[in-house]
Amino acid sequence: MSALKILVIPGSLRTGSLNAKLAAVAAHELAQQGAEVTRISLADFPLPIYDGDLQGKSGVPKHAVNLKRMMSAHHGVLIVTPEYNSSVPPLVKNTIDWVSRVQDAQEARGEVFRERAFAIAAASESRLGGTRSLAALRLILTACHASVIPNQLALSFAGQAYDDMDKLRHPADIEALDAMARQLIDVSQRMM
Ligand SMILES: Cc1cc2nc3c(=O)[nH]c(=O)nc-3n(C[C@H](O)[C@H](O)[C@H](O)COP(=O)(O)O)c2cc1C
Repeated sequence: MSALKILVIPGSLRTGSLNAKLAAVAAHELAQQGAEVTRISLADFPLPIYDGDLQGKSGVPKHAVNLKRMMSAHHGVLIVTPEYNSSVPPLVKNTIDWVSRVQDAQEARGEVFRERAFAIAAASESRLGGTRSLAALRLILTACHASVIPNQLALSFAGQAYDDMDKLRHPADIEALDAMARQLIDVSQRMM
């Protein structure tokens, strides 16, 4: 059987991003559990704000097509999102909107969401740890007919969540990450 491939997408471009850091820790955990992990930056897939006229005139931008194909080349996808005003940031929503418009030959539009497992995580300095952003992201992905696994990770007080070795400090966070990674691998395997 070919190796199980998981794509990890941090939903922030910010230098020192708490979510990019959580994505790195999650990628490490997924690799420890046996997955072949690719971690990208959305800085390598810059996209204009979705505009139907732009799509009508020039088609879907090549970065959206490339990102969709990268997702298609993996069995599971983990999105690690910040929370902005109780929801997902425009970067995350806009990326999903564009990817949902890609239609490769011999494929139905949106197949990339339907045919693989998705997991979601968030990091925030607040006590809620981006829980509301996770609820919004789950709704968006579900609307795209994605299978979003039940286990998720909302990392509260994320600035203080790590030890000197950049490992998660609190047992509850370690357990949540472990359970999420395990379930993503398990469901991705079953959908292979
Ligand atoms: C426009 C804006 C709105 C925000 N709203 C929230 C919020 O609703 N809940 C929250 O926990 N943090 C909120 N924050 C703080 C972010 O969680 C914090 O900036 C976080 O570090 C962003 O993620 P990053 O570090 O991965 O870039 C907001 C930040 C910005 C810029």
